[in-house]
Amino acid sequence: MSVPRGRRWRAQMLARCVGSALAALSMLAPVAHAQGEAAEGLLRFSAQERARIATHGPWPPAPAADAGNRVQGDAAAAALGKRLFFDKRLSASGQLACASCHDPGRGFQDGLRFSRHGRNTPSLLNTGHQRWFGWDGAKDSLWAAALLPLTAPDEIGATPTSALTLLQQAPDLRVPYEVLFGAPVADTTLMVNLAKALAAYQATLVSRRTPFDDFRDALLKGDSLAAQRFPPAAQRGLKIFIGEGRCFFCHTGPTFSNGEFADIGRPFFTPVGADPGRWGGLQALLASPFNRLGSHSDARPQHASAVATRHVQPEPRNFGEFKVPGLRGVAGTAPYFHDGSAATLEGVVMHYSTLDERRLHADGARILRALHLSAAQAADLAAFLRSLTASDGPNLRTP
Ligand code: HEC
Ligand code: HEC
Repeated sequence: MSVPRGRRWRAQMLARCVGSALAALSMLAPVAHAQGEAAEGLLRFSAQERARIATHGPWPPAPAADAGNRVQGDAAAAALGKRLFFDKRLSASGQLACASCHDPGRGFQDGLRFSRHGRNTPSLLNTGHQRWFGWDGAKDSLWAAALLPLTAPDEIGATPTSALTLLQQAPDLRVPYEVLFGAPVADTTLMVNLAKALAAYQATLVSRRTPFDDFRDALLKGDSLAAQRFPPAAQRGLKIFIGEGRCFFCHTGPTFSNGEFADIGRPFFTPVGADPGRWGGLQALLASPFNRLGSHSDARPQHASAVATRHVQPEPRNFGEFKVPGLRGVAGTAPYFHDGSAATLEGVVMHYSTLDERRLHADGARILRALHLSAAQAADLAAFLRSLTASDGPNLRTP
């Protein structure tokens, strides 16, 4: 008979709905309990907050490609680049390697306040995912950013002649070089090729998944039990980051950087003089024969990857703007800011809490204002920033 069967079906569906509603309620229970509670549990995140949190993942991202570097993504090039990165024989003094300043044990930076030109050494983790390189964006590719220290007389200081001599003496470098690029000749192309191999290695430097990533994924899946393992202080700090703190306006996306430049009201004057930031960087970029419009790029100037370089122009507002740094691994890369002027994450938070609004211009003036955080809120925001660093082992996902 069809009627009882229909009834039975409706009864079963009702039971199922009640069952899943109960299951949903039991999943939500910790949420309800946790509201306003400082100890364990999951705070309530609105639909808008969840949408914002979602934009900071997933992690890790797909490998970073660069149309201007045909060997980026090639494992043999990355292996050669890794050798070069640690090899002091490349340097004029025989004492210096890229790794001397970009130390893998310190998130690929040096822990010093500043080194060249009064600027803090940036971490190279996730560097392949950037659009501009250097605090001032003077380079528009990872290989051009490697070429500069490779050849600068006050850094590695390699020349075509010294590099060729080294390759001739060192089969561990020469053999892979020849496979990738052919027989080496003492010219600019030799240096560019070494820089492209260095870039292939650096593009593999990706930071590990962090407590924040586990939280984000659990929250989006509705797995409250896993989500509530994220410390309450970090949850509260996250709310400030994506809310009233407006941090996410500039520190966007999976790497926590929009890849652009801003003025956040730090003083322009460093111990080595005034730093013009992006203003000077743009002039250096446009004058460089090694930018994406030049003949050493493996992509044509019309290629989509060169659009940004074709269109940038220095404007007065760029004076004193610096690159928005990514925030992954940030707990391991003190000191902070382009001039290394903040020793701790608490110092960074203090800057945003008490900043002098009269100093701001350009984008910073539209977005930032002194937050006047309480001591507890400042501690929460710092706790969130710490959650962007893996707690287990070196802050690097080995390829
Ligand atoms: C003496 C210390 C030192 C050495 C040696 C050094 N670097 Fe750096 N590196 C820096 C500093 C400081 C900056 C920031 C420069 C700036 O903003 O003008 C930097 C910036 C970079 C950047 C840009 C990163 C970013 O986030 O914008 C890359 C890439 C880089 N270095 C790669 C290398 C490679 C490859 C080598 C070896 C060929 C090397 N560096 C050698 C100190 C050093
Ligand atoms: C207007 C864009 C903008 C906003 C909004 C912003 N930042 Fe930044 N942030 C930057 C720039 C640019 C720098 C680098 C400034 C410098 O070095 O002079 C920076 C640097 C940092 C650093 C140092 C990272 C390092 O490796 O040196 C941290 C941490 C940071 N910001 C966290 C935050 C937090 C937390 C907030 C919200 C309270 C925030 N930022 C809001 C643009 C912004």
